[in-house]
Amino acid sequence: MRMIKIAVLVASLAAATLLLAQHFAPSAQAAGANVPVYAANGDLLPVGNYREWIYLTSGIGMSYTAKPPDMTMFDNVFVNPEAYRSFLATGTWPDKTVLVLEVREAKSKGSINQHGHFQGTQVMGFEVHVKDVSRFPGGWAFFDFDSPDKNGTLIPQGAPCYSCHAAHAAVDTTFVQFYPTLLPIAEVKKTLSAVYLKEEAAAQAK
Ligand code: HEC
Repeated sequence: MRMIKIAVLVASLAAATLLLAQHFAPSAQAAGANVPVYAANGDLLPVGNYREWIYLTSGIGMSYTAKPPDMTMFDNVFVNPEAYRSFLATGTWPDKTVLVLEVREAKSKGSINQHGHFQGTQVMGFEVHVKDVSRFPGGWAFFDFDSPDKNGTLIPQGAPCYSCHAAHAAVDTTFVQFYPTLLPIAEVKKTLSAVYLKEEAAAQAK
């Protein structure tokens, strides 16, 4: 009789745990740490709390071709705090780094504003760069999101994202040359990539 009671108790505890797990499952924060979490089909689950992560930069109207962009946009870059702290100590990214690029409209008409731009409330683009060494060839992968609260789709290796980041980024395929709190660290720790150092030397010589 007692054994049956214990069995029932164990079973109901297990069911409650499962319910809790299901309830908290749809975001990457379920485990507490800010690590990438994937769906069964390889999608990346939403990084719901990225707005509470470490802020790296805002680019405005950046473009990587001679043609200026049709529309001025802000892009905001965030990284999970664990990876940021590790970068401060080492000058490079640890495994399970998650970098977020959030694109917003640059607005100029509004309230008392007369000059300059401020950011619109609508997220116009959302991309994530993940370091997961045992999962991706080259250690990193990009994910594209229709919206920050939906799952992100894996961008296949070989897409232009990978080649531009590999060919021009300052540290470990990330654009640390544009992240003002991190560039000095990478300089001190001597973790700047050879491609970046070469490009930078050529740019300074002009
Ligand atoms: C022609 C070069 C180029 C291409 C192609 C490119 N990027 Fe980037 N990417 C950049 C630059 C430059 C930055 C820095 C932006 C800033 O400073 O605001 C950046 C930053 C990022 C970041 C922030 C984290 C990091 O790695 O530094 C993400 C995420 C990102 N890009 C995703 C993508 C995705 C996804 C694609 C493909 C759909 C892509 N990029 C294609 C140049 C490129």
